[in-house]
Amino acid sequence: MHSEMIVKPEIIVLDDTVQVAHKGAALLASAAMRCLLRRNHFSLALSGGNTPRPMHRTFAREPYRSLIPWHRLHLFWVDERCVPPDDPASNYGAARADFLDRMPIPARHVHPMPFSMEPAEGALSYEREIRRVLESEKGDTLFLDMVFLGLGRDGHVASLFPGDKSLKELERPVIAVRGGDPDLPRLTLTLPLINRIREIVFLVTGKEKAPVARAVLKGDGENLPARRVQPRNGTLTWLLDREAASMLHLGG
Ligand code: 6PG
Repeated sequence: MHSEMIVKPEIIVLDDTVQVAHKGAALLASAAMRCLLRRNHFSLALSGGNTPRPMHRTFAREPYRSLIPWHRLHLFWVDERCVPPDDPASNYGAARADFLDRMPIPARHVHPMPFSMEPAEGALSYEREIRRVLESEKGDTLFLDMVFLGLGRDGHVASLFPGDKSLKELERPVIAVRGGDPDLPRLTLTLPLINRIREIVFLVTGKEKAPVARAVLKGDGENLPARRVQPRNGTLTWLLDREAASMLHLGG
């Protein structure tokens, strides 16, 4: 039997998407600086979709451009659609356009998910890549330092969709799935890996996310994938704008 501890998230509500973008960047800056006092590198996993894009653009602007020790970051992806980087559906391609191409990050520190391999093989290859990169830093190779997650309107997180067998994966850190919008073959990190990340931050903005944010945070969404994000040994923070938080009825 495995007991599921329910970690209470810290919920931060900000006025709008601009404020959420700034707060996300500030959280990254402080997490990276804390970690880099002890180690040489900091590992971060990025999500795709639209929500993180304003934050990604904010990364490339001051003060974050100078404040964040970009050359000491290793960047991974939470999930990816199996399309080339110049396809509008590519999460890696979007991140390049939004900030990566303008940042002082060594190319060997940027780890996009493979898009041209057969997906099952791509998943294994990405697992090996994560292990290879993190091995030199830590004894236990599967602890990434930080992740930004998005939330789908149906409660999905990463490319883990409601009712899908990917949610039952207990061993493999990266798997191939199919689904979502756009409905494409995808690679995704799994819950066992996500739940071992030290700092987990959900970014949720816009009024169309208000019902699902309520379902996940206020208890009526037991079976939603996002509800299963429960760090084993880390922190869970939700950054929402007012619209996305409008059905939470937070006191105060
Ligand atoms: C993906 C994402 C996915 C995303 C949600 C929310 O590549 O599809 O990583 O999990 O975070 O679908 O997407 P939006 O931010 O576009 O609403």
